[in-house]
Amino acid sequence: MSKVLFVKGTPQSEEQSRSTQVARAFINEYKEVNPTDEIIEVDVYYANVPLIDADFLTGQKKLRSGEALTDVEAQKVEAVNAFTKQFMEVDKYIIQSSMWN
Ligand SMILES: Cc1cc2nc3c(=O)[nH]c(=O)nc-3n(C[C@H](O)[C@H](O)[C@H](O)COP(=O)(O)O)c2cc1C
Repeated sequence: MSKVLFVKGTPQSEEQSRSTQVARAFINEYKEVNPTDEIIEVDVYYANVPLIDADFLTGQKKLRSGEALTDVEAQKVEAVNAFTKQFMEVDKYIIQSSMWN
């Protein structure tokens, strides 16, 4: 059994986003071919992915040097690490990313 991470990268709904509809059709077909695989979804626009900001960078630096982190630094480092861990723990990725500029 493989773990598959579906990253949805648009703020639009599935009804509005064509590439999400394509991704959904692919996932539905994938599930039929691979019924025992686990598919995990992350909607990055609504998952509160933290910014890599000064607190995060300072927190990481303190971790490396063994200094104590403030509560805010620790919370931001843990939040980013949780997404990193989730990304690293799967076997396959399906990434939907609408291009808007
Ligand atoms: C204003 C605008 C800007 C876009 N910019 C890009 C772009 O820079 N690169 C690209 O490949 N497609 C671009 N597109 C095309 C969209 O990425 C494409 O239509 C996409 O499928 C729209 O998102 P959706 O799949 O979630 O519906 C642009 C479309 C619009 C309307």
